[in-house]
Amino acid sequence: MKKLRVAMIGCGRIAQMYKEVFSQLKDQVEVVCAVDPKEDRAQAFAEGFENCVVLTDYKQCFQYDLDVMHLATPHNLHPIIGTDAMRHKINVLIEKPMAITLQDADAMIQVAEEEGVKLGIIFQTRYVKGCMDIKKLIQEGKLGKLLTARSYLSWSRSDEYYSQSDWKGTWDKEGGGVLIDQAIHSIDRVQWLIGDDVEWIDGTVDNRAHHAVEVEDVAEAFIQFKNGCLYQLYACNCYSYDAPIEIEIVGEKGKVGLKQDLAWVHLDGEEYYEIRDGYDGLSVGPSYWGCSHITQIKDFYRSVRESLPVFVDGVEGRKALEIIKGIYKSSIERKKIYVPFEDSLITCIKSHH
Ligand SMILES: NC(=O)c1ccc[n+]([C@@H]2O[C@H](COP(=O)([O-])OP(=O)(O)OC[C@H]3O[C@@H](n4cnc5c(N)ncnc54)[C@H](O)[C@@H]3O)[C@@H](O)[C@H]2O)c1
Repeated sequence: MKKLRVAMIGCGRIAQMYKEVFSQLKDQVEVVCAVDPKEDRAQAFAEGFENCVVLTDYKQCFQYDLDVMHLATPHNLHPIIGTDAMRHKINVLIEKPMAITLQDADAMIQVAEEEGVKLGIIFQTRYVKGCMDIKKLIQEGKLGKLLTARSYLSWSRSDEYYSQSDWKGTWDKEGGGVLIDQAIHSIDRVQWLIGDDVEWIDGTVDNRAHHAVEVEDVAEAFIQFKNGCLYQLYACNCYSYDAPIEIEIVGEKGKVGLKQDLAWVHLDGEEYYEIRDGYDGLSVGPSYWGCSHITQIKDFYRSVRESLPVFVDGVEGRKALEIIKGIYKSSIERKKIYVPFEDSLITCIKSHH
């Protein structure tokens, strides 16, 4: 198998996970470039990969005949670097969120189509076995008509987490707080499991504990799907630890849910059972990162090699972003937001106190 020539753009925290993944997939990839304006980070990333060049500007990558660029930069740079890469006919796999405005997300989807390259967005938690299994069960109609869904996230992001970063906690670079950074995975999972378009979004966000930053640290919302399912979400990142995320979906014939990566199924008249994720080959980083990055990256490489559709492509990656932007808009305008809606870059939220 010809090895794919890849570059890592952004060698910060999550890049540790990629380093481990690339080491495990060394028969499939050649890590050609490590890029970060903080050169020491790119240098540290490149260590251990033969012939990997250390660069401080992503544009220098374009001379290295790349197959895939992996982006793990501040959120506002995803569309800029991603679009440039796609215009250079390079496939891109981008960390969530793909962009911080829906206009940018739409433009990226269009560029991927025009250039005939693959655009993938990392939502690794969809790949967890239990999540895949309950998706199948819902698709087979085992739950009947879906009635309600809920997700509950209470995590902890310290003041240092924000003060040590030059982009987290800012509207113009991170694009939001707990919703766009932490809760986005559970929002993506729930909308994917429900499997229909959103009709309206009604929510509020606030900053209650992280007064040194401008973005929200708490959010709640109701999201109405066209198939009738009402999704209720709560998210905060001012809890004392990263508690397991809880998701539940209720249908006319039973309930399913996830507690972090452990899925459970309780269909009416049948015995309750749990589904554990079998894969534990990655042990890098905090446990809430999960261990499915490798599964999604391998899947993306397969799409590139075999010209197959990408499972979480731009259109899929945009869905959670649309819900999040709808919640911000609903909170700012204090009203229910019907989809589609006019989106914009958010610069501040009105605090409720
Ligand atoms: N999928 C997950 O579970 C998960 C977990 C954590 C982070 N993330 C995502 O990964 C991305 C990065 O987050 P992080 O926590 O690693 O942030 P980070 O700040 O630790 O790392 C980002 C890196 O990008 C670098 N950078 C800035 N401008 C750049 C440029 N022009 N070119 C190349 N590099 C540049 C920074 O110097 C920094 O080293 C974000 O999109 C974040 O949401 C995803």
